[in-house]
Amino acid sequence: MKMAIRLTAILFSVMIAATASAADKPHSIPLDIGKGGKCVEEPMEMRKIHMNLLKHQRDETMHKGIRGQKHSLADCVECHAGKETNNVLGSDKAFCQGCHTYAAVKLDCFECHTSKRKVPAEARK
Ligand code: HEC
Ligand code: HEC
Ligand code: HEC
Repeated sequence: MKMAIRLTAILFSVMIAATASAADKPHSIPLDIGKGGKCVEEPMEMRKIHMNLLKHQRDETMHKGIRGQKHSLADCVECHAGKETNNVLGSDKAFCQGCHTYAAVKLDCFECHTSKRKVPAEARK
């Protein structure tokens, strides 16, 4: 009897872990991933941790003056800006805006940071 109760408790905690957050769930939003290549971390992992990476990176830059590192916001934009729009914002397909609208998570970084790619895709060819 005791055993069964313990097993139920374990199963229950596994269920809680499985419903952790919106960032864990697969999505079917038709996002424009951008220019392609390889993300700075595993894409599935990025879905869950990008917010922490970006905040950490900001602290590093602001407080220690370290720049141009692996998790730079400017680099996310370079890759993820739309193939034609060169922008991570602007529509529900745009990479950052599309998912954030879907997940109903506010994104105020681009009031200061540019949401546009520096070198338009056509110019690079
Ligand atoms: C060199 C290009 C490149 C850079 C730089 C890059 N990414 Fe990615 N990222 C990709 C690609 C390509 C994918 C999609 C891979 C796939 O779906 O197989 C991806 C996937 C993702 C995903 C998952 C998307 C989804 O639909 O689940 C997130 C979130 C993400 N990136 C955020 C970021 C953030 C934030 C940064 C900056 C810290 C960043 N990426 C930097 C190329 C890049
Ligand atoms: C009020 C203006 C402002 C807002 C809003 C803002 N930033 Fe910044 N951020 C700055 C300034 C200024 C710098 C330092 C100059 C630079 O490196 O562009 C900076 C630097 C950074 C850097 C290091 C440079 C780089 O490109 O990687 C990251 C990462 C970053 N911010 C992330 C964010 C994120 C994520 C948000 C949204 C949650 C955000 N910032 C919102 C002003 C802002
Ligand atoms: C596949 C979906 C998806 C994509 C693509 C995506 N995000 Fe997110 N982002 C989320 C979700 C979901 C959260 C909230 C997660 C949580 O709170 O647990 C979030 C949270 C954040 C946060 C923290 C917000 C806060 O107020 O704490 C920042 C900053 C952020 N994302 C930046 C970006 C940037 C910049 C891009 C584009 C390069 C991007 N995200 C692309 C889904 C996404």
